[in-house]
Amino acid sequence: MAVPGGNEGRPEYRLAERIRQVAPSATLAISAKAKKMKAEGIDVIGFGAGEPDFDTPAHIKAAAVAALNAGDTKYLARKGAALVDLIARKLSEENNLAYDKAQILVSNGAKHSIYNIIQAVCGDGDEVLIPSPYWVSYPEMVRLAGATPVSIETNAETGFKVSPAQLDAAIGPKTRLFIFNSPSNPTGAVYEPDEVRALADVLARHRLLTISDEIYEHLLYDGAKFLSMAAARPAMKDLTVTINGHSKTYAMTGWRIGYAAGPEPIISAARKLQDHSTSDPVSFAIAGAAAALEASQEERERMRAEFDARRRYMVERFQKMKGVRLVPPRGAFYAFPDVSAHYGQKLSGMDVKDSLSFAEACLTGARVAVVPGGPFGADGCVRFSYAADMASIREGLDRFEMWLAGS
Ligand SMILES: Cc1ncc(COP(=O)(O)O)c(C=O)c1O
Repeated sequence: MAVPGGNEGRPEYRLAERIRQVAPSATLAISAKAKKMKAEGIDVIGFGAGEPDFDTPAHIKAAAVAALNAGDTKYLARKGAALVDLIARKLSEENNLAYDKAQILVSNGAKHSIYNIIQAVCGDGDEVLIPSPYWVSYPEMVRLAGATPVSIETNAETGFKVSPAQLDAAIGPKTRLFIFNSPSNPTGAVYEPDEVRALADVLARHRLLTISDEIYEHLLYDGAKFLSMAAARPAMKDLTVTINGHSKTYAMTGWRIGYAAGPEPIISAARKLQDHSTSDPVSFAIAGAAAALEASQEERERMRAEFDARRRYMVERFQKMKGVRLVPPRGAFYAFPDVSAHYGQKLSGMDVKDSLSFAEACLTGARVAVVPGGPFGADGCVRFSYAADMASIREGLDRFEMWLAGS
């Protein structure tokens, strides 16, 4: 667009420095290629899904439909206050955390909740500690706030968990925030209650604000126990923003319902940002979300049990595969095997040197789509989601195993 008075010779527009700092999704190239192959009629088995393959339970859908039919189509959702009450009840009964209404903010998915909180508390010069491997969006959200993400490295030997000593050593004068995620995407690691308490002791000593992303709270296996960071020690209640949402627990990813609960000044700041940017979530999605918390939690358990059966099958298969090393996941719905023993080889005629080239070769040669671990901070690994039906998992792992064996 030419500007009167002349901007000739200059770029027509300039992107903000803020957005130029942010990496595009490196996993997108693989999913785009898998999609293209599928469109060409090639039967690709996908292990990329970050969402339950189940449909949203019928009673939740019915509540949203009823809300629509009753005219719940305005800015202020009729069920808005009821949902906040139900979230407060959930946090009290399941997490032993007492929050009042002003301490809870419902947003358009947990991703939005985390974004709002980071924007509310971080800025230029701040550092944010993130255990690695991490969910891909954390570092990018930190950069969008002008702050710097700082990884705390973990590996298979430590079960992909940060130790209290490591955390203590990583905290410096510029550290503003710690982002904790258990059960973890992508590793499936779960911190046991004693381990959460040990980290809480360090955080409380440094008075370090923490985001505890508890979105996979209900997807636990092998007797793993959950403890909310905010409930781990009395001092942590005022130092933690608890994040949760309906996407994973109730198979409601497209509904976009998440929430943050924490100290009132932080929640009010996040609310201000939300009021000026997106406003509240969709009115009838709020009605569905309220129904999910109000009704029996049987469906939730049924889905968990199904994920567990798939997980056990996958662990068993990976343990028998050549050059594949897996820390058995105990939560969420991902397996994150180390496949770096195959780097430096030629697979499907392609030079495999990192997780991205491994995933590309696997897609071409085995017709199996996996997610490269590099963008999660672990280039030796690839992520397999088990949010897929058992027959596809079986077939996909057969193909994967044969492909590796033939290489
Ligand atoms: C660790 C983690 N946190 C948060 C989210 C965001 O979930 P949503 O925005 O759908 O509530 C995801 C989704 O993949 C996730 O894996």
